[in-house]
Amino acid sequence: MGKRNLTMKINSDLEVSGLRAALEQAFDFGLRQLAGMMKQWPCDKAAPIYTDNGVWTRPAYMWTDWCPGFYAGMMWLACERTGEPFWRQAAEQYTRALEGRKFDREVHDLGFIFMSTADRWYRLLGDDDPTRQGLKDLLITAGTIQSFRWKASGEDHYIYSFHGPQSLFIDIMMNIRLLFRAHQLGASRELYDKATTHARTTEKYLVQKSGARLMDTDGAVIHEAIFNPERGEFRNLSTQQGYSPFTCWARGLAWAMYGFTDTYLFTGERFFLETAERCAAYYLTNTPDDGVPFWDYGAPAIPREPLDSSAAAIVAGALWKLQGIAETRGDAKTYRQAALTILATLTSDEFTGAKAAAYEGILRHGVYHRPMNWGVDESVMWGDYFFMEALHMVLSEVTVERSGSAN
Ligand code: GLY
Repeated sequence: MGKRNLTMKINSDLEVSGLRAALEQAFDFGLRQLAGMMKQWPCDKAAPIYTDNGVWTRPAYMWTDWCPGFYAGMMWLACERTGEPFWRQAAEQYTRALEGRKFDREVHDLGFIFMSTADRWYRLLGDDDPTRQGLKDLLITAGTIQSFRWKASGEDHYIYSFHGPQSLFIDIMMNIRLLFRAHQLGASRELYDKATTHARTTEKYLVQKSGARLMDTDGAVIHEAIFNPERGEFRNLSTQQGYSPFTCWARGLAWAMYGFTDTYLFTGERFFLETAERCAAYYLTNTPDDGVPFWDYGAPAIPREPLDSSAAAIVAGALWKLQGIAETRGDAKTYRQAALTILATLTSDEFTGAKAAAYEGILRHGVYHRPMNWGVDESVMWGDYFFMEALHMVLSEVTVERSGSAN
C-alpha cells in the first residue's frame, strides 16, 4: 500500500453517477463471494467470523458469537437489490435458523443479530402478510430479552456488556436499536426509556469532550467504561479491542457514529445527532487521506499498523445517513462526499478481494481483535455486511427518515 497522509482528503467532485460502475461491480462481486460462502457454510452450520489467509473460519475459542446476523443480512441485501427468489429463499432460511438466539441472555449482541435479518424481512412485508406477526413477536421478544441486561445500581444506567454489569461497551450503541424497534412494534415504553438512557450514559463516559480531561479530543471514542458492580459508581475507562483506554479504537468510533445517528432517527433528540456529528468530525479530521483508519488512532507504530476497513465501511453508511438528515449542523455535502470518497477507496483492487487469488472474503484489510491477534488484516463478517449495505444505500440513493419518538 502506498504512502498515506494522516488527514482525510475528501474528493468533492465525486458523484454516484461517476462511481456507479465501480460500486455495482463491487456489489456483484460480493454476491458471488456470498454464494461461494453459502456452499461451505450452510444454514445448519454455525457462521464464520473472519478469514484466515483469506479463507473463512470460525475459531475454536469463541469470545462471543455476534456475527451470524451479518451473514444472513447480506442475503437480505442481495434480495432487496436483485429481487431474485434465490436470495429471498436463502435469506429466510438463514434467518429462521437464528430465531432461537432471541432468548440468548449471555450477550449484548441481539441487535446485531436481528436488525440485519428479522427487521429487514419485516420491513419488506405488506400489512396483511401472515409472516409479519411472527417476526414482530420475534423482534419484541429479542428486544425485551436484551433489555434485561440492565445495570440499575448507582446513578449511571445502561445495557451491560457480555462481561457483566460492571462493563459498558461502545458497540452496544448498535444493539439498543433493537430496543427502539421493539418498542415501535408494541413492546413496553420501558425499552425506549432504557435505550435512551443507555445512549446518554454512553455519551457521558465513552465520547470524549474537548477540555474535559487532559488530552481529550472532542468526538474521540473509548471502548469500555468500568463501574463498581455492586454500588454502581464509575471506576475507570478500559478497552478490550483498542490499543488503550485513552486512545480512539477505530471501530468503536464507527459504531458510535452509526449508533448515535440511528438513535437520533428513533428519538428525534438533537443531542444524539450532535453526538454522532462530533464523532464524524473526529473521523474526518483524523483519518488518513483515503478514508480508511488504522485500527486505533493512537496505535504506537502508525503508519506501520494494520488498517480497519470494516470501520470505514460502517462509517460510509453512517455518513450516508447523516447527509440525508435535514437537521444536521455539519455540511451535508461534506458527509456525502466523504461517504463516496471512502467507497471509492474500498471498491478499489487494493480493498476488495476481487483480484486476490482464492480469496473468500469481500472486503480486505479488516481487523477483529488486534490485541489478541484475531482476524488481523483479514475480511471480517461485519465489514463485508456494512460494505454491502453502504453500496446498496448509495446505489439506491436510500434516504433515511426519522421513525418517530415515543412522545
Ligand atoms: N464486538 C463488536 C466488535 O468487535 O466490534
